[in-house]
Amino acid sequence: MAEKTLDQYAVIGNPIGHSKSPFIHNEFAKQTAQQLNYRAECVEPGQVKDFIKSFKQHNGKGLNITLPFKLDAFQLATHLSARAKRAGAVNTLTIDADTLSGDTTDGVGLLNDLTKNLQQPIKNRRILLTGAGGAVRGVIEPLLLQGPERLVIANRTVSRAQQLAEIFADLGNISACGYSDLQGQQFDIIINGTSASLSGDLPPLAEQLAAENACAYDMMYAAQPTVFMQWAKQQGVAHVFDGLGMLVEQAAESFFIWRKQRPETQSVIEKLRLEISSP
Ligand code: ATR
Repeated sequence: MAEKTLDQYAVIGNPIGHSKSPFIHNEFAKQTAQQLNYRAECVEPGQVKDFIKSFKQHNGKGLNITLPFKLDAFQLATHLSARAKRAGAVNTLTIDADTLSGDTTDGVGLLNDLTKNLQQPIKNRRILLTGAGGAVRGVIEPLLLQGPERLVIANRTVSRAQQLAEIFADLGNISACGYSDLQGQQFDIIINGTSASLSGDLPPLAEQLAAENACAYDMMYAAQPTVFMQWAKQQGVAHVFDGLGMLVEQAAESFFIWRKQRPETQSVIEKLRLEISSP
């Protein structure tokens, strides 16, 4: 089929050079024998609306949205899924003749990676989630819907964590605090949702936060273990993971929204792991 007649998809961000989304979606397309084109596009701030208009005219069917355009996508969407509305975040846009539908797949991505790939149940466990930015907003609802014993959001700016705890209060046992308030508490699952790893930093986490048989999960990923993962290992945490599986799983959910086909993810996670670790 000629390239221009193919359904077009893209991830937009700025910068976008290192995005793994084209690799992942092209693997999904091959695997499910879907005829489509998926690429990464660097868009200038203030140009998102115009980009979407032009993309639609060129057979654009769907977009993934990454930093710094998640708020633009939320505002430009003419329809929002319930989960996107509550999270105040959109990472997936579906372009139809008259509508631009926004959804967030980060939460499903984290949940599928934790519970299916990594066999870490959520129900009745004590969860600590660090950070209160865009990355965290999208994952709170699906975590609470699994019925953890409690979900504590710790953030440097405590008011941001408190705001989130209020938004999701009706869904389960959720509370907010600063890092120093964690002293003496124990958790079964510790999830790093801050962007600290990006700059090689670590949130100021107390000693002995991890319960026996705990799991630590960094929503970031890198070729080498992140600072948070190194901290967790030093703390004797038995199960330590990065967010590479989450990246693939959130992409799989976007792919499902667009193509109504659910790709197999395990082999793609393995290929991506190899890809990021090769020099
Ligand atoms: P994103 O959309 O990627 O989550 P963000 O909205 O800028 O980006 O949020 C980044 C999160 O990481 C915030 O919770 C931030 O804490 P503040 O709200 O107090 O700013 C957190 N963060 C970033 N660097 C950090 C560091 N070195 N230590 C602790 N928290 C950090």
